[in-house]
Amino acid sequence: MGAEIATLRTQVAIIGGGPSGLLLSHLLHLEGIDSVVLECQSRAYVEARIRAGVLEPGSVALLRQAGLAGRLDRDGLIHEGASFVFGDQQLRVDFAALTGHHVTVYGQTEIQKDLGDARARAGGTILHEAHDVALHNVDAAPLVRFTHNGAPQELHCDFIAGCDGFHGPSRAAIPASMLKTWERSWPFAWLGILADVKPAADELIYAAHERGFALASMRSPTRSRYYIQCTPEESLDDWPDDRLWDEFRLRLGPSVTSAPALEKSIAPLRSFVAEPMRHGRLFLAGDAAHIVPPTGAKGLNLAFSDVRVLWQALAAWYQRSDTAGIEAYSATCLRRVWRAERFSWWMTMLLHRVHAPASFEHQLQRAEHGLLMTSEPMRAMLAESYVGLPE
Ligand code: APR
Ligand code: PHB
Repeated sequence: MGAEIATLRTQVAIIGGGPSGLLLSHLLHLEGIDSVVLECQSRAYVEARIRAGVLEPGSVALLRQAGLAGRLDRDGLIHEGASFVFGDQQLRVDFAALTGHHVTVYGQTEIQKDLGDARARAGGTILHEAHDVALHNVDAAPLVRFTHNGAPQELHCDFIAGCDGFHGPSRAAIPASMLKTWERSWPFAWLGILADVKPAADELIYAAHERGFALASMRSPTRSRYYIQCTPEESLDDWPDDRLWDEFRLRLGPSVTSAPALEKSIAPLRSFVAEPMRHGRLFLAGDAAHIVPPTGAKGLNLAFSDVRVLWQALAAWYQRSDTAGIEAYSATCLRRVWRAERFSWWMTMLLHRVHAPASFEHQLQRAEHGLLMTSEPMRAMLAESYVGLPE
């Protein structure tokens, strides 16, 4: 005889307990809608992941609306502009003057902790280390099978939210014949380091250097985050701390101070979009549906924008049986997704060493730098996309 399968029921089954899954779960809870989050990793693991750190005003507003911005409002750093270095030319793009908006620097790692604490306080159900998650019957009466603490379980629900990142099982539950995907992999990666050292400047510095792209970012007035362009084949063993700090100074200048690494990682760059983002009663949100290269700092902001649209669509369905939001979900999200893909692609091409110095494309890149130096409308385009495009 097989093991007895425990049967659970909730209104919305959420696959993945990253920022998208937890924020959705919390927003639904505030509307009185019940959810269960299935996460394959432990809470400690998801809260230790080092990710991006730039929030658009819309993301901050959503976290405030959810009552999750206590620490963010206290510790988040307001950035009204950022610097760009093109070879020997320097440019500050003044987001506040060009758009009336700013961005907030606050680590995704901290958001993950804030979300985890809020869900725990509200008694939310997050099943960590849920394995073998499999989605069934997503276009009629959805259910999710999984194992937890070694026991097989079955979760019945009205809807499934696939918030399980690029590698999760949700996207594959959309029949291949109905799913269209677009993908571009880039011939370089980012090597990042986190260190307790004063940032090189008060604002972020994006540098297009002949040795390759470099970025000086931060998490706080005493914690810095730096990145350089490297090849996807390089390994962390090729980059002992001393070599890495020397390379940062070569690309960003002498204001970079060395310190022991708290974390180092290499991440390949990818652009990816899956369409549609809804199939029947399954919705994809965040990295499950789209990936942007990090150059425009859009990944988390796009994920939160999906979550806002999905939360409102589900609330309208539960409160008024209104299906309009559910039906428009995919098209509404994809409009913003493609604009963010365009911006992230453009920033990546603008700032990385992509082509040989003698090539036609390299000359075009230099022309683009010159346009940004001299044209306020060009800078306004950058600033508008960076702080977040309207719907
Ligand atoms: N079963 C359950 N959970 C899973 C599975 C699975 N088979 N596969 C993946 N997951 C979990 C991952 O462990 C992760 O915690 O889904 C979660 C997805 O979280 P993220 O990858 O952080 O994606 P998302 O919540 O959409 O956040 C998007 O995070 O990755 C960054 O750049 C990205 O900033 C963006 C943001
Ligand atoms: C970061 O601080 O991790 C960061 C900042 C800006 C980016 C990407 C990453 O464009």
